[in-house]
Amino acid sequence: MPDASPEPPLRTHPLLEVEHLSCHFPIRGLFGRRTGSVRAVDDVSFSVASGEALGIVGETGSGKSTLGKMLGGIIDPTEGAITFAGERLPSLRARRPFAVRARLQYAYQDSAASLDPRWTLRRSLHEPLIIHTNWPRERRDAKISEIVSAVGLADEHLDLYPYELSGGQQRRIGLARTLVLEPQVVIFDEPTSGLDVSVQATVLALVRDLHRTFKLTYLLISHDLNVVGSMCDRVAVMQKGRIVEVGPTNEVFAAPRHPYTRSLLASLPRIGGPRVTDRLVLPKEPTSSLGGDKRRD
Ligand SMILES: Nc1ncnc2c1ncn2[C@@H]1O[C@H](COP(=O)(O)OP(=O)(O)O)[C@@H](O)[C@H]1O
Ligand SMILES: [Mg+2]
Repeated sequence: MPDASPEPPLRTHPLLEVEHLSCHFPIRGLFGRRTGSVRAVDDVSFSVASGEALGIVGETGSGKSTLGKMLGGIIDPTEGAITFAGERLPSLRARRPFAVRARLQYAYQDSAASLDPRWTLRRSLHEPLIIHTNWPRERRDAKISEIVSAVGLADEHLDLYPYELSGGQQRRIGLARTLVLEPQVVIFDEPTSGLDVSVQATVLALVRDLHRTFKLTYLLISHDLNVVGSMCDRVAVMQKGRIVEVGPTNEVFAAPRHPYTRSLLASLPRIGGPRVTDRLVLPKEPTSSLGGDKRRD
């Protein structure tokens, strides 16, 4: 009998691949003498497929933002490699080709803070296109209109200044500014921090819509497991600079293998009924993430 099973699918490159990435910040003592280092990110490896939504969770200080900034080329890694669409990237953004900078973007915790208060929103949205493309004004206008409507705002908003918008509207413009360059991958760093609960839900729904409409691949950094649970196919759990567990979100949440993941889940408030994780005890801190002789928290 001939084998009737179909050909195995062709292996495609993951869109983003991270290998043994580390970032160690020096700790300086008296007279600037180096007394040790903080292993903010320590030997992290993972990959992200095109169209995937990967959550990165962990407590404050676990290295999430440092990881995101290295991917975005804002911080130089101490070690390791980042491969994007099959090409190994120079670590620093300034050395990355323009096209890559547009396609792989880190969106700051408070993306609205990157808006210049002296500029109208129109000017803030034109600026990245002027820097990254040679599009004529009409084409830029058309793109900006498209994105502004995709984030649920009207063209009339474009003549306003940032201070004339509500917090939620500022986030939308922050998102628009990231998306206007048609990125393939966006790293959203705590996109809902500091927002009212109702506005948080709107911003998250918006990100999900963009994911569907533009096939946007994203990494969502959050200390909030509820947010990641509702937004991400896969989740990576960070503790002290390391990824301690990674897998499909529903599997990791239903049956966490690492004690740290269990303790994170145990801290989630549940409405109604006892928490499944009530009986869990916080694990003792396994090892220090510090390479030197001083702790820095
Ligand atoms: N520029 C920096 N210089 C020195 N230490 C830093 C710097 N940025 C972050 N750190 C340290 O690295 C660790 C991880 O920080 P961060 O990536 O911001 O964590 P998270 O985003 O998970 O809260 C923390 O201990 C923090 O104090
Ligand atoms: Mg952070």
